[in-house]
Amino acid sequence: MRPYVFTEPITTARLRLRLMDSADVDDIHAYQSREDVCAHLLYSPRTRDEVVGKVTGFAKRTRLEHTGDVLQLAVERIEDGRVLGEVCVTIRSEDNATADIGWVFHPAFHGRGYASEAALALLELAFGTLGLHRVIAELSPANTASVKLCRRIGMREEAHFVQDVLVKGRWEDTGVYAILHGEWLAARRNGHRRA
Ligand SMILES: CC(C)(COP(=O)(O)OP(=O)(O)OC[C@H]1O[C@@H](n2cnc3c(N)ncnc32)[C@H](O)[C@@H]1OP(=O)(O)O)[C@@H](O)C(=O)NCCC(=O)NCCS
Repeated sequence: MRPYVFTEPITTARLRLRLMDSADVDDIHAYQSREDVCAHLLYSPRTRDEVVGKVTGFAKRTRLEHTGDVLQLAVERIEDGRVLGEVCVTIRSEDNATADIGWVFHPAFHGRGYASEAALALLELAFGTLGLHRVIAELSPANTASVKLCRRIGMREEAHFVQDVLVKGRWEDTGVYAILHGEWLAARRNGHRRA
C-alpha cells in the first residue's frame, strides 16, 4: 500500500534486496565502471567518486508515493554477502498507478537467473505490496539479455520507438515492455514463481 517506505530488506531464495551502503562502493564500482555493462545504459562508465555520490544519494531515498519517487536497491547474494548488481523501481505515474523497473548486474554473475529472481521480487513489491496497476520496463531493443529477462518474468512488448532518445550523442530506439496486475496474478496462478 502506498505511501510505502522501505525499511526491511526483501529476501528471495538466494538474494537480499536492500538499501545501498558505503561499504558496497567497490562491488558497485566493479560493474558500473565497465564499458560492456554501460553499453545499453543511459550513463557512461562511472569513476569511483561518481559511484560514491550515487550510492550516498540512493541510500537516502526510501519512499515510494509520488511520481518520480525511486528506490534503487543493491542485490546481495545471501551466501557470501557479495553485491551482484542492483535493481530499481520508480513511480512513473502516481495517478495511473504505474511503475518502471530496471536492473544492472556484474557480468561475472550473468546467466544464473539472479536478475530474474530480483526482478520477480520487484513485481511482488509493485503489485503485491504497493498495489500498482501496471509495471513497465524501458530498454534498448538491441539489449537482448534485457529483452529476454522481460519476457521471462511475464512482460509483453508494447512499443518500439524509433530513434526517440539521444544517448551519448547517438539517436537510439526504445522498447517498452509491460505487465498488468491481472497478468501478474494469472502468471503466479500458473506457477510463475521467484526463480
Ligand atoms: C540485463 C541483465 C541484467 C540480464 O542478466 P541475465 O543474467 O542474462 O538474466 P537472468 O538473471 O534472468 O539470467 C537468465 C539466464 O540464466 C539462466 N539461468 C541459470 N539458472 C537460472 C535460474 N535458476 N533461474 C533462471 N534462469 C537461470 C537462464 O537460462 C538464462 O540463460 P540464457 O540467457 O542463456 O537464456 C544483464 O545482461 C545486465 O546486467 N546487463 C548490463 C546492464 C543492462 O544492460 N541492464 C539493462 C538495462 S535496460
